[in-house]
Parts: sequence; structure tokens; C-alpha cells
Amino acid sequence: MKDLIGDLDFIEPSTANEQQPALTKKDGSRKLYIESYGCQMNFSDSEIVASILSKEGFETTQRIEEADIVFLNTCSIREKAEQTVRNRLQHINGLKRQKPELLVGVLGCMAERLKSRFLEEERIVDLVAGPDAYRDLPALIGQVDEGQKAVNTFLSREETYADISPVRLNSNGVTAFVSIMRGCDNMCSFCVVPFTRGRERSRSPYTIVEEARQLFQQGYREVTLLGQNVDSYKWSPQENNKARLEKAGHSETVNFAELLEMVARVHPDLRVRFSTSHPKDITEQVLETMARYENICKYIHLPAQSGSTTVLDRMNRGYSREWYLYKVEAIRRILGEECGLSSDIITGFCGETEEEHFDTLSLMDKVEFDFSYMFMYSERPGTPAEKKFRDDVDPEVKKRRLEEIIRRQSIHSLGRNQRDVGKTFRVLIEGESKRSADFLQGRNSANKVVVFPRGNNGKGEYVNVLIEDCTGATLIGKTV
Ligand code: 5AD
Ligand code: SF4
Repeated sequence: MKDLIGDLDFIEPSTANEQQPALTKKDGSRKLYIESYGCQMNFSDSEIVASILSKEGFETTQRIEEADIVFLNTCSIREKAEQTVRNRLQHINGLKRQKPELLVGVLGCMAERLKSRFLEEERIVDLVAGPDAYRDLPALIGQVDEGQKAVNTFLSREETYADISPVRLNSNGVTAFVSIMRGCDNMCSFCVVPFTRGRERSRSPYTIVEEARQLFQQGYREVTLLGQNVDSYKWSPQENNKARLEKAGHSETVNFAELLEMVARVHPDLRVRFSTSHPKDITEQVLETMARYENICKYIHLPAQSGSTTVLDRMNRGYSREWYLYKVEAIRRILGEECGLSSDIITGFCGETEEEHFDTLSLMDKVEFDFSYMFMYSERPGTPAEKKFRDDVDPEVKKRRLEEIIRRQSIHSLGRNQRDVGKTFRVLIEGESKRSADFLQGRNSANKVVVFPRGNNGKGEYVNVLIEDCTGATLIGKTV
């Protein structure tokens, strides 16, 4: 079940590693420990935080016991995500009792949502910084050193951290995330993100391409371009920069399809993925660009949220069931049956009837997603849904519907994987299989995990694997 109640936005916490070069000890080498919760964007932001603080002489550590500073980069998307952070703070409170000088900071969406209230609610917290305030962290830490509590939850219309070269944390050295935009302007009624991450803004394509190029040179072989809604990526040179950019030949407005192409051209051996696409905005230009470049992976995460047009209306998603199915048809037409397709689905949204729930099950049957992240609706304070609707679906009903959806998805995942048995895929090796050191694992273009005997192969190489068997979550085969 854990595999299926996916947790794109609720991955197990990760910790910073120690792979950075020795840092200048300007700060007396205080050690920083960062734990990330929630979506990939948070994990990517933690790498920006590590980079900003490494310039100030802070070393990152993977061991919380030796840390002088502990940051939790938090998620607000569902109540459960916030509760996990609060429980973690309780534990950290124990550490702080033994080491009173330990600086505890809360970053990310929960920091933005609760602002200085956090300091009252959780007394062990010394520092609160929202997603656009990370450049201010050295100053905020300075403030805490002087005996004050520190808060910055200012949301920016411009900040993209474009010039910051992330310190890769917990990296496998093969795949990396590259943030291409921040914020979200969509206002889906259930979602807290527009309030915690602010207005949408796109990062300069030239800094994105440069980051991808550097990653390739360092041996990385896959980048995932990250944004809340990548299809609304749009960058144009700012007035004050226009002349300088024009001189460098960079004066054009760039949309997402064009950005994809620019990144795909960095090197044919650098795979490109992206997340998240929005059914209302994804264009045929994007699909055609994907079709043109072998190294743009044939996989789209296209959250449906619901299969019922009336629910989608209440969710303010901006598309109907028919529109969604039309987009899926375009994907299959342009990219073929093998293109991987996954979804996010919410059960028990305000007013959801049994019939509307069946519409979601029937949409799933029509599309046959390879994978879905499935959630019970969790009301979030301040969202349009909280203001407009009642969270009136009984928790037991939400849970039963979630179970039905999970069961349906398992059937589809297995069915889609079974169709791959007998086929050969190009797989990028990411490392050892979790189960056995005798096996390696990687993913095919459609984002399916492929496991095979090690042979003489190693991380970062491409191999062709003939699929001989599968489960609902994994393809199993041998290199050919
Ligand atoms: N309750 C449950 N799930 C939510 N998501 C976003 N907000 C909520 C909420 N209030 C889900 C959506 C989104 C994914 C990242 O999290 O499915 O696509
Ligand atoms: Fe939330 Fe909708 Fe924006 Fe996704 S697109 S972050 S669900 S408001």
C-alpha cells in the first residue's frame, strides 16, 4: 500500500550528506543538518539552502547528533504532513535539552503558512524562513546568535535563486532535480501551495541550461525539470536586463516546449524529465518536442485529481473529464501507448457523491495510469475550498473510496507492466537494487523501475534490458 499511496509530496525525510569540498571555516565550522519533507521542490530547495550556507562556511552533516543547526524543510499540503513535522520537533526538543545552543529552524511551506505563530506554538523553534527567504538565512542565523528569534516569510515576485548552484544532497550522482520555476497561480480550491509558495515566476532558461550542462560534465545523466505547473513556464527578459541579454543573443521569450528542447540539446546522453504537467495547459507543442528528442523521457505526470466534471469544477481545475481524456488521447497519438502516464487523485473532496466517485474509477479504467499518487481530501486553512465548501464527506467514506481507488490502480499498474514483458528497454542505471547487491536498478524512459543482474555494469551507464517478469511496481529482466 505504501508504494501506491504515493507520496510525491510526502517522501521519507532525507538528510544532507557530507560530500562537499572542505569549506572555509569562517563560521567556526558549525555543522548544518537539513531534513526535507514533502514534494521534490522542497528537496531541491534544501540543496539551495545548503549552497547558500556553504558560502558562509557551514558544513552539512548527515548526523543530527553532531549538528549545531537543524533545519526542517516542511510541507503543508495535508494535515498529516504538518503533524509529522510537529512530531519530529518533539524529538528534536529532546536533543536541544542536552545541547541548549542547538539552533532549530523551520523552512518551507509550514513556515510560510504559520509565520511567527510557529514561534509561539513550538517554543523550541528559533528561526522561521519561508521559501523565498533563503538568501536571508545567514542574517537570520546571526540574529538568533544575538539572542533573538528570527522570522522572514516575505514572498517575492522575482526570486528564482537562478544564480545559485545547488549543493547536491543525498545524490546518487546520476539523476538530479533542476528547479525551473517557483510558485503557482492556479488556485485549485483544495490547495495551499499558492499561499505558501506565492506567485508563479520562471527562471531564466540560460541558467537552467547551464546548470544541466554542468551536471552532465560532473557525470549526471538525467535531469528532472521541476515546477508546480511546468506548462505555464514562460520567461522573457526583464526590461532592465534586455540590452545585456540581447548582446548575448538571449532576447527571446521562451515557453516550456522551447525550454525542453534547449535542455534536450545539452547532450543526447543526458535524459530530460519534468514534473508536474497540468491537463489544462499541456500543449501539443510539448508533446511534439518530446517525440522529436529520444532523450526527453516518454513519461508524463498529469494529475487528474478526479474523473468527475462537477468535482473538477468545485476543485477549480479548469478542465472537464472530456478535456482530460482528450489530452490523454493526444499523448497516445503523438507519443504512443508506451508513454508512461501517472496521476494524482483525491478522494472525498467536498460534496463528492458516490456517482462522482464512480466517475473517477471509470476515468482510471479508460486511461489505465501506470501509477497514481492517491490521497484522502484534507481541508487546509485559508484555501478557497475551506472558505466556500463544507468538508462533508465522512472520513470512513473517504477511506473506503481511497481503498477502492488504490485497488483499481494496482490492477492497472500490474496490467501495464505485464504488457512490457518480452520488450527490451534502454535503462539508465541508478545504482544497486534495494533488495540485493547482486542486482542493479534503473528506470526506462517511461519511468518504470527496472531490476536486472549486475554483470559488469555500473551506475550512470545505459544498458538494454529484456523484460522477463514483473510486479505491479517493478520490471525484472536481463541485459542484452
Ligand atoms: N488534500 C489532499 N490532497 C491534496 N493535494 C493537494 N492538496 C490536497 C489536499 N488539501 C494533492 C493533489 C496534488 C498533490 C501534490 O497533492 O493531488 O496534485
Ligand atoms: Fe496546487 Fe493546483 Fe498549483 Fe498544483 S496546480 S500546486 S494542485 S494550486
